[in-house]
Amino acid sequence: MNILVLNASPKGKNSTTVHTALYLQALHPEHVFSFLSVGQQIKAFEKDFTLVRAALETADLILFCYPVYTFIAPYQLHRLFELIKTDGVDLQGKFASQITTSKHFYDVTAHRYVEENCCDLGMKVVRGLSADMEDLLSEQGRKEARDFFTQLLFSCEHGLFVTPPVKAPEREHHIYRPTFFPSPRIRPKMWLS
Ligand SMILES: Cc1cc2nc3c(=O)[nH]c(=O)nc-3n(C[C@H](O)[C@H](O)[C@H](O)COP(=O)(O)O)c2cc1C
Repeated sequence: MNILVLNASPKGKNSTTVHTALYLQALHPEHVFSFLSVGQQIKAFEKDFTLVRAALETADLILFCYPVYTFIAPYQLHRLFELIKTDGVDLQGKFASQITTSKHFYDVTAHRYVEENCCDLGMKVVRGLSADMEDLLSEQGRKEARDFFTQLLFSCEHGLFVTPPVKAPEREHHIYRPTFFPSPRIRPKMWLS
């Protein structure tokens, strides 16, 4: 399988997160891994997207590797999704997953953000690995990385992926009611009459 690792850490090859992907690459020589340092090269890719498009087109599985920075994925990954959508490269049916490192503060939000963008692009999303920044240093952390990858390969082989969320217009009884007023408890008396 062709696995494209999109390293979205601004630290490039010094990223903690990308080392989990490098570890998995060392354990799985039967798969072809390629790495793109989108975190460090996003400005260059804004000017010329050819290299990224070619890499995305040849990948079977796209693995987003990034740290959680200030409660979400780093800016460079947000920008990458914009560039992918603007370019229009067809990613329908490709598998996508993610590896993060963080201190588990808003890592869930970051994972949801990436999953939903991948679903928007028609990709088959497999749940990712949210590792602690020091996990690769312990046997338990390395085991979790290995188990994640085994599960990921199984999911790709058997077509198991996350079902995309239902878009609001397709919900039959969904009525969006924006709240403009504060709750009755704190409304001024005159509003209650
Ligand atoms: C500026 C900054 C902001 C961070 N924000 C978060 C955060 O919101 N939540 C969290 O769990 N970890 C946060 N971290 C910790 C990083 O996610 C962690 O150090 C990560 O392993 C760095 O990965 P990298 O070396 O691949 O860039 C932050 C670190 C820095 C330097």
